[in-house]
Parts: sequence; structure tokens; C-alpha cells
Amino acid sequence: MASIVPAEKIDVIRRIEQLAVGAGLAAIVQTAIKLGIPDSFDDGSVTVDELAKSAQAEPGTLGRLMRALTVHGVFDEVEPGRYTHNDLSRYLREDAPIPIKYLVLWMGAAWTWEAWPRLTDAIRTGKAVIPDIYGKDFYSYLGAEGAAGMGDFMKAMTAITALSAAPIVDGFDLTGVGSVADIAGGQGRLLVELMERFPHVSGTLFDLETVVANADPKLLPGGALADRTTIVHGDLYDKVPVDVDLYILKNILDAPNQQSDRALLNIKESAKPGAKVVIIDALMDASVEELRVTTLVDLFLLLNVGGARHNTKEFEILFEKAGLKFLGIKPVPGTFPTQHLAEALVP
Ligand SMILES: C[S@@+](CC[C@H](N)C(=O)[O-])C[C@H]1O[C@@H](n2cnc3c(N)ncnc32)[C@H](O)[C@@H]1O
Repeated sequence: MASIVPAEKIDVIRRIEQLAVGAGLAAIVQTAIKLGIPDSFDDGSVTVDELAKSAQAEPGTLGRLMRALTVHGVFDEVEPGRYTHNDLSRYLREDAPIPIKYLVLWMGAAWTWEAWPRLTDAIRTGKAVIPDIYGKDFYSYLGAEGAAGMGDFMKAMTAITALSAAPIVDGFDLTGVGSVADIAGGQGRLLVELMERFPHVSGTLFDLETVVANADPKLLPGGALADRTTIVHGDLYDKVPVDVDLYILKNILDAPNQQSDRALLNIKESAKPGAKVVIIDALMDASVEELRVTTLVDLFLLLNVGGARHNTKEFEILFEKAGLKFLGIKPVPGTFPTQHLAEALVP
């Protein structure tokens, strides 16, 4: 008897199966990192027994994990039970050019496995689910988690910013700009790049207290850029007590709009006329390939802060609502996912 699904639709079923096991894909990569597999060898090949010894794992089950990983392109199996690194697995090492492994750990942090099943609630209510699960907003939850929660988050943000920092700085015209602030600038990776490239510029890093305490050592007392740096901690939704020529907001205005409105108004209150405000972010108007990730990050933002990724028009509206004069938006070549610089002037 013929299958109930016609032969030409088998690929459809296969695709649904692949979507259904998506959580497993994230889990195997996270587990490889947590077991230290990418860092446990470098050149040459290793057997599953050697890997099991260094990972303190049972060789049989570790072999099953390695099989799942190699099938999905992480490590190569060069003969049965013997593995080498490939390009992808090398990038999961601590010494990779960009520590992208922290993005894997962050996107798969323990709280995400509590939050994703509540996506149904978030879609129905339009609200974040973290306050319901943990009784506090996302950043308070992360702060309360201490080094473990905040640490992986900041390392993930810094890795992603490091990927794009040089091309972003290429996109800046700092004619007439003597002072720059990175508002909600994390550990200051972008600010460091900018201050190193433009030695005449002084920089301010503004973020939460626990975050700036762990800023890039170059910015902190004794660091190479310390004498040109001011570190300010605070809540950007309360006030931004910083007076500079250029304010940067990278990957922060994806919060709920009323919060983003507040942040821009707070900047406007402190800024002098003629100062510039630049939003740097990935956009929803992106290529299909980028949207495969961006649309999921958009929902991730919904789950954790109740926020969203924006499109060009929405950023323009945000500026205008805050009384800032929108100057334009441009993509930054060489960034991933493609970052855009949206610029406005304080009237
Ligand atoms: C998505 S990260 C982006 C970090 C950095 N701009 C980057 O692109 O790498 C958001 C940043 O906003 C900071 N942040 C969140 N809420 C804040 C608040 N209320 N006041 C100041 N900073 C805040 C976080 O600590 C974090 O560093």
C-alpha cells in the first residue's frame, strides 16, 4: 500500500522533523562546550576514549554525542571513533578569534529552557515571561544570578560586538567630535575600538554598576585608555547624566518602546544642542538568510525583556518621538548580522 504521504512530500515531513528537534541541536553544541570538548585537543586526532577521559564522561554516551555533532558538521569523524577539529568546531574553542562559544552558552542558558516553553503566553499577552518565572525583570534576575548569569551574557555581547567593532568604527565620521559615550555599552568593547582609532576622543562608558565594574581593563584605572575614559553607572531609564558630543546606543533600543522613548528623552535632557545620537542595531528588514536568526532573536527579546527587533521606519519614529532630528540610516558593510547606523541630531 502506498504511504499516506506522497513521495514528493517526504521532504516536507523531514523538514518538520528537523524543526521539531531544534532544541536538541542547541543542546548538543552547548553540551560539547560544557564538557570542554573543543578545548581538549587541538591539532591531530583523538579517540572517543581519550575525549571521554578528559571530559570525565562515559565513552559510550560521549560517542553518541560526538555522532550527533559530526552529523551536524561540528568536528569530523576521520575513522570510526576518531575525531579531528574542523572550521566550525575550532570556533567553539576558548582561543577562537572571537569567543563565540559564549553566545552558544548564553542563548542556551538555564533560564532559556524555562522561557521558550512560555512563548505561547508571550505571544498571547505581548509581554516578557521572565518576571512571571523569576519574580523580577530580566536584568535584575541576571544581576541576582551573580557572575554566572551576567558573566556569560556580557561575554556573549562582547564577542558579538567584537565581530563588528572595526567596520562599525570605519562607519563613523568624528569630525568635530571630541567626546563620545557608549550608553548601555556593556564592557566597552566598541568604545575601546573607537578610542584606539581616534586618539583625540575621550570616552564615557555608561551601564549598570555590576557591568561597568567588569569593563574592559583598558578602560579601568591603570588601563591604557583610562586617562581618556569616564566610567558612569546608572539606569538609563531613570537618567543619563552624561554630556558629550556623540551618544552611541548599540543593541539596547530593542526594549519595549516606552522604555526606549524614556532612554532617548533622558539623553536629550542631558545633551547640548548639536550633539549627535547614533543607534546601532540589526534590523528586521534584512536578508532571508539573516532573518533565520534575527526573527528568533526578536522572539528571544520578547521572552526576556518584552522587546523586539525594529525596522528602519520604527527607529525613525523613535527618534522623532523623542524630539530628535532624524538624519538617516545606513548599513555597515562587513558586519554580522548586518548592523545599521541610524543617526539623529539634538536640536
Ligand atoms: C544587549 S546588551 C548590549 C551591550 C552593548 N551595547 C553591545 O552592543 O555589546 C544591553 C546592555 O544594556 C545594559 N542595560 C540594561 N538595562 C540597563 C539600564 N536600565 N541602564 C543601563 N544599562 C542597562 C546591559 O547591562 C547591557 O550591557
